[in-house]
Amino acid sequence: MRGIILAGGSGTRLRPLTSVHSKQLLPVYDKPMVYYPLSVLMHAGIREILLISTPQHLDVYRDLLGDGADLGIELSYAVQEHPGGLAQALLIGREFVGDEDLCLVLGDNIFYGHELPTMLRREVERLDGCTLFGYPVSDPERYGVAETDEQGAIVSLEEKPARPKSNLAVTGLYMYRNEAVDRAARLTPSARGELEITDLNLTYVRENRARLVNLGRGSAWFDTGTHDSLLEASTFVQILEKRQGIRISCIEEVAYRMGFIDREQLALAGKRLSASSGYGQYLLELAGA
Ligand code: DAU
Repeated sequence: MRGIILAGGSGTRLRPLTSVHSKQLLPVYDKPMVYYPLSVLMHAGIREILLISTPQHLDVYRDLLGDGADLGIELSYAVQEHPGGLAQALLIGREFVGDEDLCLVLGDNIFYGHELPTMLRREVERLDGCTLFGYPVSDPERYGVAETDEQGAIVSLEEKPARPKSNLAVTGLYMYRNEAVDRAARLTPSARGELEITDLNLTYVRENRARLVNLGRGSAWFDTGTHDSLLEASTFVQILEKRQGIRISCIEEVAYRMGFIDREQLALAGKRLSASSGYGQYLLELAGA
């Protein structure tokens, strides 16, 4: 399976924070936001990843993450000229995806959960059609909203409905069989001029081939679309990390635990970041250096 991180958009809701900065590089406590969705793909066992961003920001991502060799993965980059919708990511990534299945993750979505890595790998294995990941929220009207039957098959799916049929928000993590790329190519822009991911997902709902995995209790999901949700995500990460003495979505640690890099490479990553950074120190301790 190939992974795509969509980290473009204009970040209008977070200005002036995003007047010059890419939203998905803003700090979420101790690391750039994009580390969180990147670690999700890595936990799913995905090692070939395309990062898509705006023409003005793409080079900053390249500077930050390089070609992925330090993480034992292959990272490539592509530009989205204008924010033409989430489903456009599949068209931009067409060549990169080739004949493989794909997993798309939004660069501003943060997932955390003890069972998440195991669950992700299970869903990669059993993928047929499309798999979405739902999270119960108190304000579903802000999101894509899904309704499912007892087996988890999606029976209805609506984008930001005024009267939501359930409290299950569709998170920004999507797994598709390869054919989704052709389906995305057949979509027509919505009233707001975007290729809507919900329209793509609806093609699978109509065929009864869309599943929703409810992340539910025991996990956390944040989208960081507002100043408040950005701060809440940071606070969540801070509390968890301080209390447990661990770091979450630490991409070097994930690479190490997934067997993508060895202890020496982990120590090297720690040295590069410098032992004077708490993050670098953490990597060095983990490597026993
Ligand atoms: O976060 C989950 C939600 O993401 C889902 O529940 C919705 O179904 C889905 O439509 C999406 O809703 P948003 O209102 O959050 O979409 P937004 O347009 O804000 O874009 C989400 C992220 O993707 C944001 O960080 C900007 C980036 N983006 C967006 C567009 C439209 C791009 O990189 N390129 C784009 O063309």
